[in-house]
Amino acid sequence: MQNRNSVAGFANRFVKVADTYYIIGMEEKTIQIKYAEYPSVEALPPAEREVLEKAIEATVTAYSPYSHFCVGAAVLLDNGEIVTGSNQENVAYPSGLCAERTAMFAASARYPKVPMRKIAIVGKNQQGELCAATPCGACRQVMSEYQDVAGQNLQIILYSEGGIVLVFDGIDSLLPLRFSF
Ligand code: THU
Repeated sequence: MQNRNSVAGFANRFVKVADTYYIIGMEEKTIQIKYAEYPSVEALPPAEREVLEKAIEATVTAYSPYSHFCVGAAVLLDNGEIVTGSNQENVAYPSGLCAERTAMFAASARYPKVPMRKIAIVGKNQQGELCAATPCGACRQVMSEYQDVAGQNLQIILYSEGGIVLVFDGIDSLLPLRFSF
């Protein structure tokens, strides 16, 4: 009986419309992601193009004997320096590191506290063709940290399928509801 009462009490907070129960007070929301799409690397503005080209160059430094997938990343700092990185794998798989974090950690170690402005990322498959390498969750979290340290949005430039390039203005676009305090 007690069970039935609590079920009835619970049900009071619902409204039934055409066989579907909706929770009163609940609203369905949408998070929208805005980004710019360029048809090619050459179509990018000069500053973005330079960073992405450095990332492309960095793919040759990848150490990826296990995945055979190469990733290059390049970070542009406020002082004008561009620091590159590539994925570095290890026989103990979790010990390896993605290109993005290799680049960001190198940039922060080499130029501590110099704000990061832009990061470009590109993959290269086993056939040697450029391809997309969208950053993993851990790399997005690290971008989030350095964006906060910089106090300005970190622009993220992603080489994408078919040679198009996607440009995101800030990590919130790639890591909505991110943790920071
Ligand atoms: N990888 C990166 O370096 N960055 C990404 O955004 C995705 C994945 C690396 C990790 C590993 O060495 C290889 O790509 C295959 O997952």
